[in-house]
Amino acid sequence: MSVKTFSAQVVGLKADIVEVEMDLARGLHSFTIVGLPDKAVEEAKDRISAAIKNSGFESPQSKNQKVIVSLAPADLKKEGPVFDLAIALAYLLASDQLDFEVEKKIFLGELALDGKIRPIKGALSLVKTAKQKGFEELYLPKENVKEAALIRGIKIFGCDTLKEVAEHLDEKINFNLTPSPETEIVVEEKFFNTDFQDIMGQETAKRGLEIAAAGGHNLLMVGPPGTGKTMLAKAFTAILPPLSFEEILETTAIHSVAGILEGDFLTQRPLRTPHHTSSYVAIVGGGNYPKPGEITLSHRGVLLLDEFPEFEKRVIESLRQPLEDGSITVARARGTINFPAKFIMICTMNPCPCGHKGSRTKECVCSQASIQRYQRKISGPILDRIDLYLEVPQVEHEKFLANAPSGDSSQTIKERVARARNIQRERLKKIKSPKGLPILTNSEMSNKELKAFAYLSEPVAKILNQAAKSLDLSGRAYHRTIKLARTIADLGGEENISEQHILEALQYRPK
Ligand SMILES: Nc1ncnc2c1ncn2[C@@H]1O[C@H](COP(=O)(O)OP(=O)(O)OP(=O)(O)O)[C@@H](O)[C@H]1O
Ligand SMILES: [Mg+2]
Repeated sequence: MSVKTFSAQVVGLKADIVEVEMDLARGLHSFTIVGLPDKAVEEAKDRISAAIKNSGFESPQSKNQKVIVSLAPADLKKEGPVFDLAIALAYLLASDQLDFEVEKKIFLGELALDGKIRPIKGALSLVKTAKQKGFEELYLPKENVKEAALIRGIKIFGCDTLKEVAEHLDEKINFNLTPSPETEIVVEEKFFNTDFQDIMGQETAKRGLEIAAAGGHNLLMVGPPGTGKTMLAKAFTAILPPLSFEEILETTAIHSVAGILEGDFLTQRPLRTPHHTSSYVAIVGGGNYPKPGEITLSHRGVLLLDEFPEFEKRVIESLRQPLEDGSITVARARGTINFPAKFIMICTMNPCPCGHKGSRTKECVCSQASIQRYQRKISGPILDRIDLYLEVPQVEHEKFLANAPSGDSSQTIKERVARARNIQRERLKKIKSPKGLPILTNSEMSNKELKAFAYLSEPVAKILNQAAKSLDLSGRAYHRTIKLARTIADLGGEENISEQHILEALQYRPK
């Protein structure tokens, strides 16, 4: 007898529905899974047989029969243990141990030997697809239920054991599971270790970070060792506005697919701090079954590249595409996969390998050649994509012992940033990026929006053009300067970009 149940698998950040067909035939016992299974799917046979037996049913091994499972579509490589539950239920159906209507129901979950259902990766993406494809009931591990119930309009059942699901489905027994309520988003106040107020001096850098947060601009901090660069960068996420509901869905889906979701869903903007020894694939994403890399994990948040020139050259250059398009294309055997990668990049570096070039008090011991080699690792095209070049010099020592807080608190800065972001959101609300994502900040504007929303009066344009000529700005740098000036004006709550805004923006151009 042949039966069919439904499951799904993550592909990139999306998902594909997988049909689990089961056929039982007379003959010597065998259990075969076809349809491009990987090792984890292959091993499902033993897990499923044990789970079925330990749930009080007759296991496939207890009879002389040929069990054939086909996972369709056959040309999609099947990965991981997510199909276990659907395969086990298909067997119970095929062997007449269970009877239920399979249509519009989808099953996700790995089985433990004792019949318990183990959590899965990528639940949010899977549920989204199931809903789009018209499924009405979705069964998945209890641990994933809150994440899954972020999607409205499909009944989500959290399950603990195979036995529980089987009893619920079998019409002869009463339903014992109730659908999960829609997940409510509660954002807990996160405790940040460093407040902007605790960082002494560094007024220029703090102003730069505020502008970057307001408009979503990339920045580079350059200064000698121990002046607070890493400290500033880590304090940065605390001044960013909270994630919107749409952004929570986007970021949670990514972190869930990568298997690094902490809690049920993301409530804070991600801050990723990959080490400079990280591999190309770890940063960019990829692999046999492509997984998102650090640049995608920092989507809608911050990518902190501390000690920037120490990163592999290939890694640094790979940032070009995401910094321009807000996404990254990862090549794989069959076609390509596109991952979103809209992040604010914060890089830190010393001015030279010893760190003291340009210092008034310490002598630089680096040779000219080694300084050049160090600085050359950050190529022109990368510098061109950085809007704010901030010097972080040595702070006068007396300031460290001062009792008074240094400048505004993170909370005060956050409020100013939120006001500037609101202005931008209102202005850009009807615009969508070519990939269909909403545009939220000035840095994401294309040249078309720039013309519409960042008008420069004649005298202001003249100043910019003169400066662009003497600084030999590229077309990209020219446009980026206008976007930065737009953000500076928004922070000041001003409608028009003035001479002062342009001059401040120019002052941050990489030297
Ligand atoms: N401006 C500052 N205000 C308060 N503390 C500071 C400041 N600058 C440095 N410190 C102290 O020095 C420590 C090191 O700072 P941090 O790691 O940010 O330096 P850095 O600029 O990143 O140095 P490196 O170039 O070596 O990475 C901090 O943990 C803090 O205790
Ligand atoms: Mg540092």
